[in-house]
Amino acid sequence: MAATHGIRTLGVLGAGQMGLGIAYVSALHARVAVRLYDRSPAQIQSGLKFMDKLLEKDVAKGKISQTDAQEAKDRVQVVSEHAGVKDMRDVDMVVEAVSENLSLKQNIFRELSQELSPNTILASNTSSISLTKIAAATVLEGLHAASEEARKSAARVVGLHFFNPVPVMKLVELISALQTSQETLDRARAFAAACGKTVTVSKDVPGFVSNALLMPFINEAIMCLEKGTATRDDIDTTLKLGMNHPMGPLQLGEFIGLDTCLAIQQTLYTGTGDSKYRPSILLERMVDAGWLGKKSGRGFYEYPSR
Ligand code: 3HC
Repeated sequence: MAATHGIRTLGVLGAGQMGLGIAYVSALHARVAVRLYDRSPAQIQSGLKFMDKLLEKDVAKGKISQTDAQEAKDRVQVVSEHAGVKDMRDVDMVVEAVSENLSLKQNIFRELSQELSPNTILASNTSSISLTKIAAATVLEGLHAASEEARKSAARVVGLHFFNPVPVMKLVELISALQTSQETLDRARAFAAACGKTVTVSKDVPGFVSNALLMPFINEAIMCLEKGTATRDDIDTTLKLGMNHPMGPLQLGEFIGLDTCLAIQQTLYTGTGDSKYRPSILLERMVDAGWLGKKSGRGFYEYPSR
């Protein structure tokens, strides 16, 4: 018999493009109540507006009914700016979707483990950071690693890696930390399936399967541009028309965010020590300049302000 996720209420930390997408598919497809939190109230407001637009578009296209849309909207509640994680005490699972930064994630997971019940699943949408490191942050300092408390605390941490745009991309990558329990994995997998996603499983290695393959591809495309092998448009067109990719690698890097690409590439490089993962200098310079792609309005391409 397939495992049931038993998730009735989900906390989502971070209302950027990933967090918002996760909130959207959870409310619409898995039909769970969602508590959405972001440090920036402006980010939440623009996110909710975008979610309304997506729901309206799906109703207009006949993909969902007006009632489905309204119910999905009603299921998403914003957590007060001051309460933060404390307002998530009764959730069954949290998905963290903040920036790709190890110490930020470790601090968040430490706080979650202190504030929430030991039965709450703590999932991270990290795209490359070790789940084992994140899980270790949930164990109180000084606690014996073999104690029941330490084991239970870290056993509920799991990687649940969604893809952008979450409402469209059909995959979730499931990553087990060294400490993750089978029950946590089963419930996380069942939840992702309820969100309408196909699940693949990866070991906890830098970048997992998806980004260990994708980021060197994007990095290599930037190196081609750096070396003058071809123009921006010729690199992207080659992959779009020659390999039927929906976006060229430069365009895709900017869609993801060049800062995120650099952070993942650095994780691959430092995590493996393999020089084949060295980030392109041009990628580093683009990030230094704040030319991050779509989100900052400029990258290798320019994006008119909305
Ligand atoms: N949010 C929600 N829905 C979106 C969206 C968004 N940000 N952007 C596009 N869509 C929807 C549109 O509404 C449309 O839906 P419809 O079929 O119901 O009308 C559908 O996607 C197609 O959109 P468009 O017609 O506007 O544009 P395209 O046909 O060019 O598709 C795309 C846009 C889906 C983004 C397509 O270009 C694509 O698949 N690109 C590759 C995306 C990709 O590879 N993502 C993975 C990134 S890696 C990652 O996320 C991992 C991380 O760890 C780095």
